[in-house]
Amino acid sequence: MTNSSPEVVPASSYQAEIYFAGLSGATPPLPTDLTQLEPLAKQRLDPGPYGYIAGGAGSGATMRANLEAFDRWRIVPRMLRETTRRTLSSTILGTRLPAPILVAPVGVLSIAHPDGELAVARAASALGVPMVLSTASSHTIEEVAEASGDGPRWYQLYWPTEDAVTLSLLARAKAAGFDTLVVTLDTWTLGYRPLDLDQAYLPFLRGVGTAIPFSDPAFLAGLAAAPQDDLMAAVGRWVPMFTGTALRWDRLPLLRDNWDGPIVLKGVLHPEDARLAVDSGMDGIVVSNHGGRQVDGAVAALDALPGIADAVAGRAAVLFDSGVRGGADVFKALALGADAVLLARPYVYGLALHGEDGVRHVLRGVITELDITLGLSGYSDIAQLSPDALLPMGS
Ligand code: FNR
Repeated sequence: MTNSSPEVVPASSYQAEIYFAGLSGATPPLPTDLTQLEPLAKQRLDPGPYGYIAGGAGSGATMRANLEAFDRWRIVPRMLRETTRRTLSSTILGTRLPAPILVAPVGVLSIAHPDGELAVARAASALGVPMVLSTASSHTIEEVAEASGDGPRWYQLYWPTEDAVTLSLLARAKAAGFDTLVVTLDTWTLGYRPLDLDQAYLPFLRGVGTAIPFSDPAFLAGLAAAPQDDLMAAVGRWVPMFTGTALRWDRLPLLRDNWDGPIVLKGVLHPEDARLAVDSGMDGIVVSNHGGRQVDGAVAALDALPGIADAVAGRAAVLFDSGVRGGADVFKALALGADAVLLARPYVYGLALHGEDGVRHVLRGVITELDITLGLSGYSDIAQLSPDALLPMGS
């Protein structure tokens, strides 16, 4: 969580690039207000895939709370300060971030676009933004690594109940150059999601989002027939294996003993769980409610963040997701104690609407808006942000 010397983030040129391209009649490929992407994606996608991406648990209260929590905090800009050169970069758990943003693990991206995770890997890598690859990917670990080129990559584990499969996935991720492990804790069974239930749509049951286990020797060793010959048997082995876990805090040493790099626990919402993560020797946490997809009526992730940042007190990296929709949201999350944020649904809509270019548009837009917001608010370095930069609404 050290910061480098000041530098001008190249992506901040996106604003200028758009205006100058306009002189030849060009406009951006997609709206720059990223909240407009979801309704456009709804028109483009079939109802099943759209519902899977946009839907949440139960009444959607947690999804709404995530957005409302951001709205309740307001930035208080400071004037006449030197902010013409700005630093957005940092190093988190040994990974250099050009801006405090990572691409969140999102599974089954082939339902958004045929290029799926490969397009995301290319777009992220071109900007030096780390991609966190989901275990529920529609392309294999090795294919995504190749598409990433020199780009930084982290691997998100849905922790299988069979240790041999877990160890095989870790070995493959390590061999493919993924250096940080993100272990998602909040999805040991699927949330109750009406948009998916009402359409009876779950991609995994159709063999979508299963490329990683279906290419895994330890997983395949437990099947009588190859997945292409008996899809239901393969699905029937995988779905209970990556949900329905009996994992507890005392199982974490298995991961520590079999992973050389940093380990981050994703889905932490209670300060006591953050303390347990640190006491268990974990290197970081992601404060997240999985975008409101798991527990209806859960605490907004942003409301949980300050208490968790206090509990961690600099002993581990604090990452954040759930509700980030633009650069100002990134600013607010950093001010409330996050070291970096994971961007999720907006890039998935960008992918659905415009493939790799759509993902690049979203990433560049968020980074540029953060850069401009930082400067206009009177800060020259993301490391300067603290709760003092914000006021709760109504104050
Ligand atoms: C997710 N998320 C997720 N998380 C994870 O650890 N592994 C996964 O495979 C997935 N898959 C997934 C699919 C879809 C369609 C969505 C929308 C989300 C959760 C994701 O990483 C992140 O926590 C939330 O999406 C953040 O909320 P917002 O900002 O997207 O609303």
